[in-house]
Amino acid sequence: MDSVKVALLGFGTVGEGVYDTIHSHQKRLQALLGKKVEIVGVLVRDQNKKRKIHSETLVTSNMDRILEIPDLDVVIEAIVGIEPGYTYLKKAMETGCHVITANKELLAHKGKELREYAEQYSVRLEFEAAVAGGIPAIGTFKQLLKVNRISKIEAILNGTSNYILSDIASNQKNFDQALASAQEKGYAEANPDNDIDGWDALFKLTILSDLLYGIQPEWEKMVHIGIRNLALEHIEFAQALGMKIKHVASIELIEGEARLSVEPVMVGQDHPLYGVDGVNNALAITGDLVGQILLQGPGAGALPTASAIIEDFVNLFQTEAQTKVQQDVTLAPSLSDEMQEWV
Ligand code: NDP
Ligand code: HSE
Repeated sequence: MDSVKVALLGFGTVGEGVYDTIHSHQKRLQALLGKKVEIVGVLVRDQNKKRKIHSETLVTSNMDRILEIPDLDVVIEAIVGIEPGYTYLKKAMETGCHVITANKELLAHKGKELREYAEQYSVRLEFEAAVAGGIPAIGTFKQLLKVNRISKIEAILNGTSNYILSDIASNQKNFDQALASAQEKGYAEANPDNDIDGWDALFKLTILSDLLYGIQPEWEKMVHIGIRNLALEHIEFAQALGMKIKHVASIELIEGEARLSVEPVMVGQDHPLYGVDGVNNALAITGDLVGQILLQGPGAGALPTASAIIEDFVNLFQTEAQTKVQQDVTLAPSLSDEMQEWV
């Protein structure tokens, strides 16, 4: 049988989650795409580390070896920082591969260039996992934008920061203990300063401003404050007033200009983000026709992120897939059945 050949760049929290999901969902993917999905290569920094990867899969730290794989269809990137991901994704597109990335730092800085590259080489660039983890935020915006003018977004876009604030509030942990717990669960970035200083949320917000309004970031104009200096006493102060502190990322259209900010905000019980706790992210979106929509769900972690990446992957073959999705609804085994088979 014909197969779709995939290479993973990165085998950390996200890469391994995608690898496991493609295997655990092989039957479902095959039913959707009419083809087997084969992970033919995995790029890592340290190729000597022990990993749960089938022996026939190429594991290498040399990107050229990945690009030499014949008939490679899709490259999924989940490594860290602007480089080497930027160079690798461009090379993959040059060879005719579709690319999917979870890397917000890369997209926030080089999204426009990557889009132009994708157009030049007639391939797709998809990035659902880069904003709000498992929430289908990008797909929802693409739908909404067909008919709505989006005038405001207030969001929680960093799972680690929200987890830390919730953990301090509920379990009286100190900041470092709560951060260690977020790291242990695979929510935090390799450099957690990006989470707690608000960079990660800002990267996601700039990806949205580019998607919504075609506005590239003017980094120096954006308000950008993290949660590093918050402690139990601040959180208890908010609680005493019946409020919570949330790390809020917002975009607002004011007098024809999009204002972007990321900062801790005290919110009351009537605020749409008040009840969003733990690793969850949420987006309160205001559109001229629809009014306000609230999207909420897990913003980080292996499986929610894999879910977003696999959505992108299936959408690459969407025309073929659409009718088959409908046929598959009653036939598809439950997630737990498939997981058991895989384990
Ligand atoms: P990890 O730090 O867990 O994994 C990073 C992976 O990339 C590792 O396998 C590492 O190799 C590999 N890698 C790092 N540098 C290089 C390099 N120069 N060449 C080749 N491989 C390299 O990160 P995550 O999986 O958490 O995150 C990956 C990306 O996904 C990041 O951009 C992150 O922002 C984004 N993301 C993360 C989410 C999460 O919940 N964690 C959610 C959504 C997006 P080795 O194993 O050898 O060290
Ligand atoms: N470190 C990020 C977060 C991962 O905590 O939200 C998901 O993008």
